[in-house]
This record gives sequence, C-alpha cells and structure tokens, in this order.
Amino acid sequence: MAKRIQFSRHGGPDVLEFLDYQPAAPGAKEVRVQNQAIGLNFIDTYYRSGLYPPPVLPSGLGTEGAGIVESVGSAVSGFQVGDRVAYATGPLGAYGELHVLPAEKLVKLPDAISFEQAAAVMLKGLTVHYLLRQTFPLQGGETILFHAAAGGVGSFACQWAKALGVKLIGTVSSAEKAARASELGAWATIDSSHEDVAQRVLELTEGRKCPVVYDGVGKDTWETSLNCVAPRGLLVSFGNASGAVSGVNLGILAQKGSLFVTRPTLASYADTPERLQMMADELFDMIESGKLTVEISNRYALKDAAAAQTALSARQTTGSTILLP
Ligand SMILES: NC(=O)c1ccc[n+]([C@@H]2O[C@H](COP(=O)([O-])OP(=O)(O)OC[C@H]3O[C@@H](n4cnc5c(N)ncnc54)[C@H](OP(=O)(O)O)[C@@H]3O)[C@@H](O)[C@H]2O)c1
Repeated sequence: MAKRIQFSRHGGPDVLEFLDYQPAAPGAKEVRVQNQAIGLNFIDTYYRSGLYPPPVLPSGLGTEGAGIVESVGSAVSGFQVGDRVAYATGPLGAYGELHVLPAEKLVKLPDAISFEQAAAVMLKGLTVHYLLRQTFPLQGGETILFHAAAGGVGSFACQWAKALGVKLIGTVSSAEKAARASELGAWATIDSSHEDVAQRVLELTEGRKCPVVYDGVGKDTWETSLNCVAPRGLLVSFGNASGAVSGVNLGILAQKGSLFVTRPTLASYADTPERLQMMADELFDMIESGKLTVEISNRYALKDAAAAQTALSARQTTGSTILLP
C-alpha cells in the first residue's frame, strides 16, 4: 500500500483526500517512480474543479514530480531501478508516494539537480522553454509582456528572458511581487491592482506595443492582452488562472491589427521522447550554467495538498511550490 491524494467529485480544495491505495504494477512500457518531491501547478486545480475533465473518477492528481525508479515494465530499455528521474506530463497521479507512467515521459536527472529543484522546475521550466524558444522564438532585443511574472512559470520567464537579452514587462498584483519579478530579471513591472496595463505598455514601449504577449491569466486579461500586441504580433494565451477565455469573435484580431493568437500546451510541444529530451537538456543547461536559479518558495507535506492549492488559487504564492511525500 502507498499514500496518495485523490478526488471523487469536482469542487474546491476540500474534495482532495489523502488515502491509502494499491499502486498498479508498471505495464510493459511503463515505469513506477518512488516520488521524492512533487510539483504544484495551476493545471492541478483545473482537473480538481472539472474545468479539465479527468479520464475517470475517482482520480489521482498532478503531473509533475521527481524521484527514483522503483520498478520497470518488461519492454522498458532506457531506465533501470535506482535511476534518478523527473517528469512533467503524463497521466494524473503525481500527488502520491508512487506514480506509474510511460517511460517515454521520463528524463534522467543530472546529479547537480536535486529532486526538490526538479519538482519545482520541470513543468514550469519546460513551459518557459517552449514559450520563449519555440512558440515565439525570441532573438534578443524584443520587449515582451508576461502576465503573473512573480508566479511559478513567470519566475522562470523573467530569468530566461533576461538571459536572452529580452526586456520582459511583467504584470503583478502587489509591490512585493513587483520587487520579486524585478530581482529575477524583469525589465519593468506593472501592478495590475492599480495601474492600467495597456496604457503602461504603450508608455514603456514608446507606443510600439509588444511583438508577443504571454497570458496565463486568461479571462480577466484577454482584452487587455490584445491591446498590448503590436500589429501582426502574437498573443500566446497559455492558461486560465482567472477562468477560461470563451466566446471569442475572430474579427477582434482584425480590428486590433491582423493579430495572431495561439493556445499552446506543454504536452503538444514535448510530444515525443526526443523533443522532451531536447527541451530538458536545454533547461538543465540553463540551470547548470547559473542562468536559471531554481528557488523553492513554498514546501508542503503531500497530505496538505489542499492548503497548497488554496494558497496558489488565492494568489498568495510566488515562484514554485512543492509537495513532499
Ligand atoms: N499551457 C501550458 O503548457 C501551461 C503550462 C504551465 C502553466 N500554464 C499556465 O500558466 C499559468 C501559471 O501557472 P503557475 O502554476 O505558474 O501559477 P502561478 O503563476 O504561480 O499562479 C497564478 C498567478 O496568476 C495570477 N492571477 C491573476 N488573476 C488571478 C486569479 N483570478 N486567480 C488566481 N491567480 C490569478 C496571480 O499572480 P498576480 O497576483 O501577480 O496577478 C497568480 O499568482 C496558469 O494559467 C497555468 O495553467 C500553462
């Protein structure tokens, strides 16, 4: 038997239960990982609330973690018992002592990166990789807008943008978060609790706006974000922290200046073992070269996952939060 977080109905954090369960043996192409640290991500709240439907209820939760390979399926060749590994996508169930997932979702963890650091950076860091390096391949010299710059994904985006020579304007909701984003490398910050974001972007870019806007906030910032994109620029709408964007009239893209919009996911960028490994290699290089620092702002015991999710949803966290089994 092992312990895990599971939920049998959708709702607030109170639907999460910490239970004994019988972990499955790994299938032929699967690996069972003894988690040492687990990542907390906004997407976990979407599965819990029902915004994203899980395949089945009751369901495990979480897609990010780091640990030691505990058993391997008969057709697995690249991993063996005892390997240090990390993962960011795959089936729900990372919020547990043991997690079974396809071997192709794993990467080996360099010795220089701890389990806690890996759980703090895998999903968020790989996301920043594809956002800044693939969805809109930044060259250096651009001025970009990134919402929730002191959050989990945002904290890595500030650092990575600075390393690329990109001026990142970050939105935040408090003076403390503004200071944090600046420390991490944001070129400028806008406090959305009392500043007009679109107006400030116009001022900061001397009327040019941004070639790309990254928006993980969703519903509340959709219109503002469109107003911050330069003609023929790209709005990357990559999350729903304030709720899902819906009812979009495509004509708005014409009115705002022939804009492009994409709604990407990490799973569709890291969709093959080769692409996952390429992205992880670049992420680990960024960490090992000191360009990206992985700080863990908040740690919770796994059994307290509900409290961790409450803090994340209430905008009380900065940076990465991990759960410890
Ligand atoms: N598509 C992908 O591949 C992908 C991958 C990873 C993450 N994401 C998305 O990226 C976003 C950030 O994820 P994260 O895990 O790193 O979370 P996070 O940024 O640590 O937390 C979300 C932040 O959003 C801001 N926010 C604005 N309005 C909010 C509201 N009504 N409720 C809650 N938060 C609000 C808050 O920052 P302020 O208080 O400073 O405004 C909050 O701290 C999420 O939307 C997530 O789904 C997408």
